[in-house]
Amino acid sequence: MNTIIVTGGAGFIGSNFIFYMLEQHEDCRIICVDKLTYAGNLSTLSHVMNHPRFRFIKLDICDRKGIYELFSEEKPDIVVNFAAESHVDRSIENPEVFLQTNTLGTSVLMDACYKYGIGRYHQVSTDEVYGDLPLDRPDLFFTEETPIHTSSPYSASKASADLLVLSYFRTYGLPITISRCSNNYGPYHFPEKLIPLMIINALNDKPLPVYGKGLNVRDWLYVEDHCRAIDMVLRKGRVGEIYNIGGHNEMKNIDIVKIICKTLGKSEELITYVADRKGHDLRYAIDPTKIYNELGWLPETKFENGIQKTIQWYLDNQEWWQTIISGEYQNYYEKMYGNR
Ligand code: NAD
Ligand code: DAU
Repeated sequence: MNTIIVTGGAGFIGSNFIFYMLEQHEDCRIICVDKLTYAGNLSTLSHVMNHPRFRFIKLDICDRKGIYELFSEEKPDIVVNFAAESHVDRSIENPEVFLQTNTLGTSVLMDACYKYGIGRYHQVSTDEVYGDLPLDRPDLFFTEETPIHTSSPYSASKASADLLVLSYFRTYGLPITISRCSNNYGPYHFPEKLIPLMIINALNDKPLPVYGKGLNVRDWLYVEDHCRAIDMVLRKGRVGEIYNIGGHNEMKNIDIVKIICKTLGKSEELITYVADRKGHDLRYAIDPTKIYNELGWLPETKFENGIQKTIQWYLDNQEWWQTIISGEYQNYYEKMYGNR
């Protein structure tokens, strides 16, 4: 039985990863460590809370004493670190907490792995560490060799963490891997992000706030495909290596918003162009050749199907997001979009 610590497991991708692993592997026990920030929801984990191979612990990854006690008690074989402040717009408003959790929190986990020993530490990173690509060069993609060139405080904090993780491999021989994924979408995506925000606003007949001209491009991947890729990296990936994960599925923001309007039968007149994000990255595009060649990973869910499944999930799970948007989220929304 492998004991796997999954940090940030009450958030979007971490929770999907926990569901995936419990279903796919009977030989793993999952310990979810989550601080339950605004982005973490216990209700997301409700259907696995009583699972015999699952344990939840409310804990901040920056809490060195708490993390050491947990490692000493559980002696994990594997750590997968999803815990992060993940929203670029929030990082522009308040960078410090991003450095605390994303960079210093990672350093605490690295130290715990070094002190207590680990079979594998996996860092869940992002394609945003590469910066952006021009819109008029569709021939360019991010490979694992693309230099780090961050734009936002969020991406800078994630890139710092990546460098730290690589340093623990080189200096202490810690068995690490890193994956850098493109934009995910799917169930339990927090309503502040583009796709869920547009679905929820459209359902409520509220304006759909598109930044700038809506021409920025993202490379969208269904969350389960990301989870499967991480699982493959854990099982077959080479220690010390970075793996890019992406779907070759580039789309302009405005086209996504139009698909959501069409699917929900809402008028495109809801679309409102608002002030652009500061330092807004133009285009992300992953070259996933390495993970395909080495591990045989390919995305399985086509965007046409994934977006329909996702919209249906938000229709079927209104209680989950209604609870979120009726709380502190309202202050956030007013602050970010009120006078935009
Ligand atoms: P999320 O914001 O939905 O979830 C983050 C989770 O981390 C929450 O449950 C939160 O409570 C928890 N957390 C935050 N600070 C913590 C701390 N100090 N200690 C313990 N737990 C803490 O984020 P997400 O979209 O699921 O992203 C997960 C990871 O994947 C992040 O590291 C992010 O950088 C990376 N990533 C995300 C995407 C994407 O499209 N969402 C793409 C590539 C990489
Ligand atoms: O590429 C991976 C990254 O994808 C992850 O590392 C981040 O954690 C994740 O949040 C995501 O970052 P983005 O900034 O690309 O995602 P977001 O959903 O915030 O925005 C997607 C695009 O949509 C971006 O170009 C900004 C635009 N946007 C976003 C919002 C919230 C809008 O036009 N309007 C909006 O209201």
